[in-house]
Amino acid sequence: MHWPDPADLPLVDGYPDLLVCLDGTPVKSAQLWRDKRRPELIALIQRYEYGSPPTIKASPTARTIHENRSALGGKAWLRELAVTIGPGAPPIHLLVLLPTKKLEKREPAPLFLGASFTGNQTLTDDPAVRLPTCWQYGDYPGETEHRATEATRGTQTKTWNPDLILDAGYGLAVFQATEADRDTSTQRDGLQPWLRAQEPHTPERWGTIALWAWTISRLIDVLVQDPAIDARRIVSVGHSRLGKTVYLAAALDERIAMSIPLQAGCGGTAPARCTTGETIERINTVFPHWFNSHYKAFNDRPRALPFDQHALAALIAPRPVLFANASEDQWANPDGQFTILQAADPVYRLLGVQGLAHHAQPPLNTLSPGRLGYWQRPGRHEMNAQDWQTFIAYAKRHLGS
Ligand code: GCU
Repeated sequence: MHWPDPADLPLVDGYPDLLVCLDGTPVKSAQLWRDKRRPELIALIQRYEYGSPPTIKASPTARTIHENRSALGGKAWLRELAVTIGPGAPPIHLLVLLPTKKLEKREPAPLFLGASFTGNQTLTDDPAVRLPTCWQYGDYPGETEHRATEATRGTQTKTWNPDLILDAGYGLAVFQATEADRDTSTQRDGLQPWLRAQEPHTPERWGTIALWAWTISRLIDVLVQDPAIDARRIVSVGHSRLGKTVYLAAALDERIAMSIPLQAGCGGTAPARCTTGETIERINTVFPHWFNSHYKAFNDRPRALPFDQHALAALIAPRPVLFANASEDQWANPDGQFTILQAADPVYRLLGVQGLAHHAQPPLNTLSPGRLGYWQRPGRHEMNAQDWQTFIAYAKRHLGS
């Protein structure tokens, strides 16, 4: 591939033109988009920002370690799965809650697949759900010295709102991202040592966000085999750094039917060419392990990047993606995020679907429901019931119930 000189890149409204290939060819057909520009954008984001994900041929297998057919007062069939990505890999634990009402009718359930900061036991009071042994952030209720204790059980139900999701006829599957790779710059664990042993000669390392996103795809490998789950209606959901993760996962994995990155900000849904909130320099300094080494070269010149974060929305096209935000979370640059959607809109139009439903940024509490969805609520940096009401409404609109 010819790597671009940034000075040569055509810009549209300040962002690299998604519909011009690196060699200058204008992209005027869906075919050319698919065959040439889309692969080119994948190569660009992997080379300059996230790193390339592992190339091993994974063959994940799942073992049920706990099952409860009348969870959440009978609303849900709960299973905890230990997913092993390949021989010798440490397991990733996936909590799967499916709506009883769908199961009784033998209808496959659409599913929110979430990446979580905390363990599976924080989503339920079921005492048989396993306490994780991996590294914990340490500042969530019940965690001590980066370990989970019994006091963590059921503490995140107001974050994930399984009741609302199950009542809507959707399932929820969640894994703890730090089981795949702890979130510190000084030490790699989880899947990382195992993967490196499989691919000792890989010259360019993937960052933690790429590894988390790859893990999501390996969990999908398992979920799509389950006849109780509608494999064509899987929605990736995550908050903040995990919003960045689920956005990347959807850009790279077309089995994800919809993505909902919440307050994902810099390195996710906010522009790298930003003047508000977190900058590339700040994120690369405080969280150097999230991205690859090349990304650091853009710390003081984000305008030299041959793409911006609109490339990921474009890779998701024509599938729906909802950028969700909160007005007090200016660190995530909610207004800048809307310009990312505007810049991705031409790709949706090229593919023959509506991207943005409103061309001006909608007021607070107003969902812009196009396939390039946007929503901002008052309040702070968190995931809560109001967010889930909106996610569910958006999912039902595009994927049905
Ligand atoms: C920090 C970081 C953000 C990130 C957030 C989070 O604030 O700067 O980029 O999104 O943590 O994950 O909560």
